[in-house]
Amino acid sequence: MVVPAGGLGTRFLPATKALPKEMVPVGDRPSIQWGIEEAVASGIERAVIVTAPGKELIQAHFAADPGLVATLEGRGADDLAHRVRDISQLCQMEFVVQPEPLGLGHAVWCAAPLVQGEEAIGVMLPDDLFSGSPPLLGQLIDVYRQQHCTVLALRRCPRDQISRYGVAAVEGEGAIFRVTDVVEKPSAAAAPSDLALMGRYVLTPEVIAELETTSAGAGGEIQLTDAIRRLAQKGAVVGLEFTGRLLDVGTLESWLATNAEIVWRDQELGPMLRARIQELELNQE
Ligand code: UTP
Repeated sequence: MVVPAGGLGTRFLPATKALPKEMVPVGDRPSIQWGIEEAVASGIERAVIVTAPGKELIQAHFAADPGLVATLEGRGADDLAHRVRDISQLCQMEFVVQPEPLGLGHAVWCAAPLVQGEEAIGVMLPDDLFSGSPPLLGQLIDVYRQQHCTVLALRRCPRDQISRYGVAAVEGEGAIFRVTDVVEKPSAAAAPSDLALMGRYVLTPEVIAELETTSAGAGGEIQLTDAIRRLAQKGAVVGLEFTGRLLDVGTLESWLATNAEIVWRDQELGPMLRARIQELELNQE
């Protein structure tokens, strides 16, 4: 699996000036850890994380820290020691640096040498957290096992928000569609459907081969959707309208809303949050 985490995080500045966007915590852990945990729950055993110069904190977070574990154990904090140890043992992790933020397609391409020879490659964007069961990447892998082609995660999106996403032109009915085209950030009028691409993919090596020859598209970036589109036009892409929810954490507003939701649902933290909100409401009156 490839986890692109080499972007600049400009929509979350100034918080992300020195702190990688993927390391901003959601609940009690960085957003990228939620993504890796979803992947592990989906059966993934190896992750290639694409970082950037200055984003070394991501690798540090997943590195083993026997000193910290020993200190916690020495203090009797065994539960915390387990949780810290588990982070470095989630799965096999490798890191590759994207020298410049030239787009999502370029980030995946940077990881290509490390996933060469794999039958298909999962891609997980860590700024969308999945809430639901079964895990989203696992849902896509199941479809791949039936269809043996590139699989996209699709979600219906209101027309007034569709221009933020890649949008699929589709054929068929039910939850699995044949994708005939993909358009990056179309205007509401030009969108071929209301099915937007979300941040999980299963890509066949053909997509990586297309990336080799994909030149810069929208925004001067090498877009993953341009490579997928060429395969879609050859009939080699399907999309799954998945079950469950994706929670965005890529902007301050979406991060706040997602944190509130995750903490609200947490067994320990939820009651504390509700009590605090009640207190704030009472003090306003
Ligand atoms: P985003 O567009 O959401 O992230 O890309 P960004 O570019 O960091 O953020 P903004 O738009 O400037 O606010 C989705 C994922 O793709 C990665 C990002 O790190 C994020 O996890 N990405 C994006 C790369 O790895 N390389 C890139 O060149 C661009």
